[in-house]
Amino acid sequence: MIDENLLWLLSSYRTSEISGALFFGQLARRLKPGAIQMDMTAHFADEAQHARYWTDCIAELGAQPLKLDASYQDKYLAAAGLPANLMEILAITQVFEKRVIRQYASHVSVPGLLPEIARTFDRILQDEKWHVRWVGDALQSLAADYGADEIARTLDRYREADEAVYRATLEEHQQRLAALDWTRR
Ligand SMILES: [Fe+2]
Ligand SMILES: [Fe+2]
Repeated sequence: MIDENLLWLLSSYRTSEISGALFFGQLARRLKPGAIQMDMTAHFADEAQHARYWTDCIAELGAQPLKLDASYQDKYLAAAGLPANLMEILAITQVFEKRVIRQYASHVSVPGLLPEIARTFDRILQDEKWHVRWVGDALQSLAADYGADEIARTLDRYREADEAVYRATLEEHQQRLAALDWTRR
């Protein structure tokens, strides 16, 4: 059996990828046809695959995912509020994605990473880099419609919500990460 903290972490990644897929899937359904609709559709399909990769990874390690309560994403929406227009959708997506990448990066850099987990991070982080890039480009393309200042203010607002949720919920992630017992699988 793998370390209890490790199983919790991998299960929380799986839950969070599922929430991401569902959230971005709902957005993709609401968007008008065009480049943003195409990218958002590819994006939510990626997140669904990521949930699958974590599920497979946990199985490879001989365990089963824990059923966890509301993910970070769910709490996040409660704190930040539902985005009201396309620009807000992209802004919340960008802040979201950067947090995921930072969270994953803090795990990747811990010594003694199991090869099954390293492979899964490798696969996922390729996609996550693209997620941040397309959303950044799409946001820039909206500057003429919404104004660069308004976009910057919106990003700030979501970053503040992100920090608040992070302090309240993601601390457990850091504590579990610090408590990992690397002598056990
Ligand atoms: Fe993902
Ligand atoms: Fe992503």
